[in-house]
Amino acid sequence: MLGQSALPYALRPMEKSDLDQVAAMEREAFPTLWPPTSYRRELKNRMAEYTVCVRDDEFVTVQPRPKKKGLLGIFGRRNKPQEPIRQQLLVGFLGVWYMAGEAHIVSVAVRETYKRKGLGELLVIGSVEMAMRRDCQVVTLEARVSNEPAIALYRKYGFNEVGLRRRYYSDNGEDAIIMTTDKLTSDEYSSLFDYRLNAFDQRYGETVREYLF
Ligand SMILES: CC(C)(COP(=O)(O)OP(=O)(O)OC[C@H]1O[C@@H](n2cnc3c(N)ncnc32)[C@H](O)[C@@H]1OP(=O)(O)O)[C@@H](O)C(=O)NCCC(=O)NCCS
Repeated sequence: MLGQSALPYALRPMEKSDLDQVAAMEREAFPTLWPPTSYRRELKNRMAEYTVCVRDDEFVTVQPRPKKKGLLGIFGRRNKPQEPIRQQLLVGFLGVWYMAGEAHIVSVAVRETYKRKGLGELLVIGSVEMAMRRDCQVVTLEARVSNEPAIALYRKYGFNEVGLRRRYYSDNGEDAIIMTTDKLTSDEYSSLFDYRLNAFDQRYGETVREYLF
């Protein structure tokens, strides 16, 4: 039952106050990515939806970034040091762009110490549910051909290899594999997704999953 999570993890929309933790997770998961993603800008992107996976019984203390100095700040009337804030620990995130009736997964990552606990799976379940809510036809993405964990995860959720983008990644010239689901409304995809959802709940417990719309 939603709201009574057996797992101490939940999905919810990413917020501005999450950005320090998200940036740290991105650096850990994609150390060669340059420049880093501007999630501040992405949160304003109306074609995008970002979700975080939170651990609801663990907290971290975050030092808020100093506000940008305006004139008042320069004269010392603003920008008093801010108190550290206690926040829920974020353990993963996922971003989707919606284009031409397709949901495109642009990033997904799980903290190193939280891998292999079903959280990547939970985030992919989230992306498919978000896409279904927006009546997208398919979910699609690119992955490095060497990224076996990610490719295995996507295959598990019915993503098929439909093409290759040669030398797509500029850091090492690696090819990207393009993976796409069948039509989300097809009987084949619906039954696969339902089967996977049930198997996930049985294995890990039920989760709270909130989305933007
Ligand atoms: C890919 C990633 C998100 C998977 O997250 P995760 O929480 O560890 O994965 P899960 O525990 O949910 O695993 C789900 C499925 O993925 C596959 N998988 C995950 N890790 C794997 C590994 N190391 N080797 C092989 N398969 C793996 C398996 O099919 C697994 O199902 P199973 O448990 O029934 O075997 C995580 O490895 C990650 O953050 N990687 C770095 C960032 C990245 O590469 N993102 C993808 C960009 S395209």
